[in-house]
Amino acid sequence: MSRYQAALLGLGLLLMFLLYVGLPGPPEQTSQLWRGPNITVLAGLTRGHSQIFYREVLPLQQAHRAEVVFLHGKAFNSHIWEQLGTLQLLSKRGYRAVAIDLPGFGNSAPSQEASTEAGRAKLLKQVLRDLEVQNAVLVSPSLSGSYALPFLMRSHHQLRGFVPIAPTSTRNYTKEQFWAVKTPTLIMFGELDHTLARESLQQLHHLPNHSVVKLYKAGHACYLHSPEAFHHALLEFLDHLP
Ligand SMILES: *[C@@H]1O[C@H](CO)[C@@H](O)[C@H](O)[C@H]1NC(C)=O
Ligand SMILES: *[C@@H]1O[C@H](CO)[C@@H](O)[C@H](O)[C@H]1NC(C)=O
Ligand SMILES: *[C@@H]1O[C@H](CO)[C@@H](O)[C@H](O)[C@H]1NC(C)=O
Repeated sequence: MSRYQAALLGLGLLLMFLLYVGLPGPPEQTSQLWRGPNITVLAGLTRGHSQIFYREVLPLQQAHRAEVVFLHGKAFNSHIWEQLGTLQLLSKRGYRAVAIDLPGFGNSAPSQEASTEAGRAKLLKQVLRDLEVQNAVLVSPSLSGSYALPFLMRSHHQLRGFVPIAPTSTRNYTKEQFWAVKTPTLIMFGELDHTLARESLQQLHHLPNHSVVKLYKAGHACYLHSPEAFHHALLEFLDHLP
């Protein structure tokens, strides 16, 4: 082997080593990521039994106006709510905003419990307890409906508000079951969503206290296509909760 080849091999090995150590390790138990003059960002695994990854932006004030918990669709994880600036915006407006990775997504391990309807409701309940969230507003797009709807049907008295965004699983429940849920609800969907928008709206409009916001020129992931209109509608809803 020439000196040149040896140098090349050494360089290759060094590169591999750097790539290896550069990979993210398992998330730490509640690490404070950064703290600006007006903002604190936390991320880590929930402390209790649930062991779910969350990211959270705390408002400057000690007393927040409400707690808002974000779930996510199949193509996403909790990062999307930081990327869109949603968590930061809400914290600026005085809300405690938390996003979680559902089991098997992002930094959360898969969970056996998540395979049944009752298990998913229980898991979400545990996550909220472990995050010390009392009366959350739950934001649930798409796939996350398989968690949010079982939870809503069993524990809606724990929710201060519900924001379904073309969620799955709405067909699993009857008109009468929806009627019984008095939680203030903001139904949002994209004008161009031809997958779940219509089906979920048909079911969700049986919730007695709801309003509907259609985001124009937006598809299934309407918050991604039209973040400004999404944020505007969400804040309007949050600001008027009793
Ligand atoms: C922090 O809050 C103060 C008062 O609300 C504001 O004037 C300032 O611009 C904020 N700083 C940042 C970095 O957002
Ligand atoms: C729908 O309901 C059935 C019966 O309660 C349950 O077995 C199933 O897991 C539910 N599906 C979803 C997607 O929640
Ligand atoms: C319905 O929800 C709105 C908030 O969207 C709330 O202000 C109002 O009090 C609720 N009405 C009832 C009857 O619960």
